[in-house]
Amino acid sequence: MSLFDMTGQVALITGSSRGIGKATAEAMAEQGAKVVISSRKQDACDATAAEINARFGDGTAISVVANISSKDDLQNLVNATRAAFGKITALVCNAASNPYYGPGLGITDDQFRKIMDNNILSNHWLITMVAPEMLERGEGSITIISSIGGLKGSPIIGAYGISKAADMQVARNFSVEFGPRGVRVNCIAPGLVRTDMARALWENPENLKRSTAASTLKRIGEPHEIAGAAVFLASKAGAFTTGQTIVCDGGATISGGA
Ligand SMILES: NC(=O)c1ccc[n+]([C@@H]2O[C@H](COP(=O)([O-])OP(=O)(O)OC[C@H]3O[C@@H](n4cnc5c(N)ncnc54)[C@H](OP(=O)(O)O)[C@@H]3O)[C@@H](O)[C@H]2O)c1
Repeated sequence: MSLFDMTGQVALITGSSRGIGKATAEAMAEQGAKVVISSRKQDACDATAAEINARFGDGTAISVVANISSKDDLQNLVNATRAAFGKITALVCNAASNPYYGPGLGITDDQFRKIMDNNILSNHWLITMVAPEMLERGEGSITIISSIGGLKGSPIIGAYGISKAADMQVARNFSVEFGPRGVRVNCIAPGLVRTDMARALWENPENLKRSTAASTLKRIGEPHEIAGAAVFLASKAGAFTTGQTIVCDGGATISGGA
């Protein structure tokens, strides 16, 4: 059997109607997992779940609306997943927000709090809702989609970077707490990926050239190129990996850009 096989697993992925979350759901379904598609929009979730069911068989995917800002929505998402599939074996905290671009001196308290709430607190909520059943079973994998923004200083996306750095610490802390009972917790830190969230950085060819100039591969990443790391972490292939941040960035963080 493939090291990456996910047959028998149930993966709950937030923000999976499009972008990196959708690619992750598709890749996990391809490896045999049942998947839960979630975002703020029912229609978009239904469409993605239908696509996955058409490709991988009816009953592979369900869709459940949930805004990560709402603890009640997240509890409903967890409850609906358990009602449909009986358990959650792989949790991917993928959805995030960045409502502010600009200098740290200009951010409002509301914008700062929104970023911390959606990108850190919501992940903490979801993990505390899902982890107990994993700990009881003695296995499970939790992955937070962080960002290389959490590894570098920035004059434009500073608060987002703070939240993404905190996600790496959330993974380290819970890895220490859960590791003795068989549950692994990791982050993936993508570089620039061709999704709606980063559209301003790649849609215009000049911007794209500037955005990728400092990477060694000199190109933008595609959502499925992040999904592979998520499958690795959720499957047997990642069984000895915990508390880590896997950087998938085309070499952007290791290059001086020369
Ligand atoms: N793209 C990049 O270059 C890049 C780089 C580094 C890290 N990341 C990280 O990768 C993750 C995924 O981003 P992406 O680039 O794939 O973005 P995307 O293509 O814009 O997709 C975002 C997904 O999250 C959902 N979403 C947004 N706000 C939500 C909320 N409040 N509650 C629930 N769902 C919500 C969206 O659906 P609705 O709008 O319908 O809710 C959509 O399904 C994020 O954590 C992001 O920080 C992205």
